Amino acid sequence: MLTALAPVLQKAHRGRYAVGAFNINNLELAQGIMAAAEKLRAPVILQTSEGAIDYAGMEYLAAIAWVAAERVKTPVVFHLDHGKNPSLVERAIKSGFYTSVMIDGSHHPYKENVRVTKKIVAMAHRRGVSVEAELGAIAGIEDFVSVAERDARLTNPEEARRFVRETGCDALAVAIGTAHGVFKFKGAPKLDIPRLRKIKAATKLPLVLHGASGVDPKLRAALKDHCDDLHDCNRVKDARGVSDALIRQAVRAGINKINIDSDLRLAFTAAVRSALMKDVKTVDPRKVVGPARDAVTDVVMGKMTLFGCARKG
Ligand code: G3H
Ligand code: 13P
Ligand code: ZN
Repeated sequence: MLTALAPVLQKAHRGRYAVGAFNINNLELAQGIMAAAEKLRAPVILQTSEGAIDYAGMEYLAAIAWVAAERVKTPVVFHLDHGKNPSLVERAIKSGFYTSVMIDGSHHPYKENVRVTKKIVAMAHRRGVSVEAELGAIAGIEDFVSVAERDARLTNPEEARRFVRETGCDALAVAIGTAHGVFKFKGAPKLDIPRLRKIKAATKLPLVLHGASGVDPKLRAALKDHCDDLHDCNRVKDARGVSDALIRQAVRAGINKINIDSDLRLAFTAAVRSALMKDVKTVDPRKVVGPARDAVTDVVMGKMTLFGCARKG
């Protein structure tokens, strides 16, 4: 059942759990995610980045998401991830495909972020589309050269209170020390959980954690085993994700939507690589990407259980 983001996240906010938002750019990723949602009767968010739209086309991705949503009774949100370009966000809203969009104005100064977000919220809400906005710079805590810089760039709770009131957004992506990709932390994984609690108390809104992949050591090892030809072979050992314990703390402190892309990429490509190595002579793509689809299901089932959204659909 295709659903807007706001009611799904309001329920998660009241129930103190988080819903997984998984990036798709092909059929097998979507099917792998949906198999997990069906098995666990979990609400799910299928999201597409600007890059995914460039790769597969908005119409193809929407067709996949809409068919996926029609096949289940549990809520499925079709969401535009990181809409940095307002004209793409407007196109997504007007297309009628998306039930939710993210307007990412976090690279702008505060006033401009408010201005672009407010405009999108008005347009989206007229059409029943939900809006996620972002405040603060999503980056690893060690990426900041000083405590003062870190304090200035992570989400400020008082500013968040004002931002939510001024924009009317339905959910807010916060910067508390996560980063996108597999190289999130230079040392031990760390998030600013006290800051998150303050943002929740100030906004009382569903909050979103980006850059939340766990970068499973087993998958890291699988990549390293076949690393000879990988461009960043020597860096793979430094890949660090957000631990399950930190995810649990973040959910307890008020996170209600958790974005996962890198973990799916790792699982997908590790399975493809292993299928090809097992049968180098195959010319049947189904034998290559079929196992990847199953690997995605396993990862997503683990996430849904961790986030507490299993049987909440
Ligand atoms: O947050 C970003 C997602 O991981 C999307 O990545 O732009 O390579 O599709 P992408
Ligand atoms: P990861 O790179 O940690 O999977 O984060 C994905 C994300 O935040 C998509 O918006
Ligand atoms: Zn993100």
